[in-house]
Amino acid sequence: MTALPNSPAARDIEYYFHPVTNARRHEQLGPMIIAKGEGIHVFDDQGKEYIEAMAGLWSVAVGFGEKRLAEAAFRQMSELPFYHSFSHKSHPQAIALAERMVKMAPGKMGKAHFTNSGSEANDTVVKMIWYYNNALGRPQKKKIISRLKGYHGITLVSASLTGLPNNHRDFDVPFPQFKHVSCPHHWRFAEPGESEEDFATRLAQELEDKILAEGPETVAAFFGEPVMGAGGVFIPPRTYWQKIQDVCRKYDVLIVADEVINGFGRTGNVWGCDTYGITPDIMVCSKQITSSYVPLAAITLTNEIYNVIADNTAKIGTFGHGFTTSGHPLAMAVAMENLDIIEERNLMGRVPQLSPHFLKRLHSFKDHPLVGETRGVGLIGAIELVADKKTKAGFEKPGATGLRLAELGHEEGIIFRAIGDIIAFCPPLIITDEQIDDLFDRFGRAFARLTA
Ligand SMILES: Cc1ncc(COP(=O)(O)O)c(C=O)c1O
Repeated sequence: MTALPNSPAARDIEYYFHPVTNARRHEQLGPMIIAKGEGIHVFDDQGKEYIEAMAGLWSVAVGFGEKRLAEAAFRQMSELPFYHSFSHKSHPQAIALAERMVKMAPGKMGKAHFTNSGSEANDTVVKMIWYYNNALGRPQKKKIISRLKGYHGITLVSASLTGLPNNHRDFDVPFPQFKHVSCPHHWRFAEPGESEEDFATRLAQELEDKILAEGPETVAAFFGEPVMGAGGVFIPPRTYWQKIQDVCRKYDVLIVADEVINGFGRTGNVWGCDTYGITPDIMVCSKQITSSYVPLAAITLTNEIYNVIADNTAKIGTFGHGFTTSGHPLAMAVAMENLDIIEERNLMGRVPQLSPHFLKRLHSFKDHPLVGETRGVGLIGAIELVADKKTKAGFEKPGATGLRLAELGHEEGIIFRAIGDIIAFCPPLIITDEQIDDLFDRFGRAFARLTA
């Protein structure tokens, strides 16, 4: 691109080192500058309108421009802009959200803890688990198992949990204590003729074999997203989680549910854990908790785990972990207001009502010669593009087709995510049936131009 000197685009290229971006490509293309948002739409700095079919980054449940969240933030910042939670200090908003999260969380959670991001939350959980096993006198029980194509963030430990090459390559992760098992994507990874049920059984057996090979006394926890998001939206076979859970229980391996994308209604229930019958020992959520208006993640854990940790803090003198901004009053206040809005407008309850239409429009692309699979649950879905529908072979240049389609989408006024050649959709929960039609009409026009 030829950006005018001193224009926002030129200054972006000059000064801003972007996350998760091909930096050299960015220098050539320049940024897409989003200046405003309203409902399910965002507008670029030229005033062009787009449907945000990804809710930003799987985030903006209540849509853009929600004044109540701005007002809640203003009220909180006027009254108590900052206070911390170290050394017995607390404040009303942190207490209120901790109580709300414990009561809302899946399973039998007893305590809540806060961080600023999903990555920090997963890092924190690993530290809690290591601390817990040290307190129990089993210092060798430290290995963590997660899945290939799982996404759990990008700090050193959460990137180690993540099972995606782009988050490992040249960053010297994963660390050796982190092991990965297969992704439960039946369409791509099942043996010829293998049923979903048999595939789920095989993957549970693979987990058991892995635990036995490592030694059950060395395996501390299994981390998983109920529905895998950022790796490419992978919906597990119906009985997969039950089987995985049984294996974990057999070997005293803790189950950590990463609900950062799934949580707050995305899959048709409050939690992905509800959709798949998971009873986690620890749960992590973020994103839709504040509709990402401000950074926040929450961890909930059972009192069984908490009590072991708590006893050890008494022995050592403290739980020596926490951030300056853990439980930040602004994030707590915005989360409380956001969850009020979600409840008052029944945004989680609407998902099962909207889902059939969303999935019908998504699946209508199934027969296209470049579509290998369409898949979805609740209000999250994906279209996987392939070069050869029969053999499921990908394109000669992986990712180029997805990227081109995303560009055409921009021209047609829609932002979706191309994860390589997988096209992901995760619209704000406020979307209506008519807007779902508009979304897929715009996508359809972009897709038609790709193959024209
Ligand atoms: C399932 C899951 N876990 C963790 C994370 C990391 O969260 P953050 O980007 O806030 O660090 C993400 C982010 O997309 C995620 O999808």
